[in-house]
Amino acid sequence: NKQPVIAPSILAADYSRLGAQIEECNKADIQWIHCDIMDGHFVPNISYGASVVRAAAKSTDAFIDVHLMIENPDAFIGTFAEAGAGQITVHQEACIHLHRTIQSIRRHGLAAGVAVNPATSLHTVEPIINDVDLVLLMSVNPGFGGQSFIRSTYQRLQRLCTMREEHKADFFIEVDGGVNLDNIEKISRSGADVFVAGSAVFKAPDIPARINELLREAKA
Ligand code: DX5
Ligand code: ZN
Repeated sequence: NKQPVIAPSILAADYSRLGAQIEECNKADIQWIHCDIMDGHFVPNISYGASVVRAAAKSTDAFIDVHLMIENPDAFIGTFAEAGAGQITVHQEACIHLHRTIQSIRRHGLAAGVAVNPATSLHTVEPIINDVDLVLLMSVNPGFGGQSFIRSTYQRLQRLCTMREEHKADFFIEVDGGVNLDNIEKISRSGADVFVAGSAVFKAPDIPARINELLREAKA
């Protein structure tokens, strides 16, 4: 395992004071900020677009981790690169030419990730596993914050870890959805390196304290 990274998802933030909420995250030991882009087509919800990513990037020195839950992600790689993304993660299920899309993200000078839904076989990403910087395992069905963690993810994390070893690959394993203080230690022991947390961070009374608690549990 790599050093654990907590990636607060601003989907759960109070948008009327987004800058201040990200400032709270900056007070803790965060290296990443996670941005969830939803288009109302690939997932049954609309979140926000590149202008919010640009505002988030301006409010922090953290690495901007953009998770595209959209149809036709190829058409928006340039837009999010320009908005300040450090990494773009696309869904396997949304990409007809996944290898081409990964190459396109790299050509924009960004780290490239691929996400898989809870019902998608890990074998669907095996052929490109040496071409990505990150594999994101969805631990909820994408579209909404505040859902509960799907328990089959534990086994999928272990399987992905084994795949990483077998292929001598070096990507981060990110888990997204329903991560909280009660389950983060087990998720970490199952093999995750990067922990997206929306509600667990932004609904907390003390945001930096909560981030540091999550990090401590992930290291336990
Ligand atoms: C779900 C998003 C997640 C979401 C996580 O579709 O991809 O990043 O914000 O939110 P919580 O941590 O509240 O489950
Ligand atoms: Zn996400």
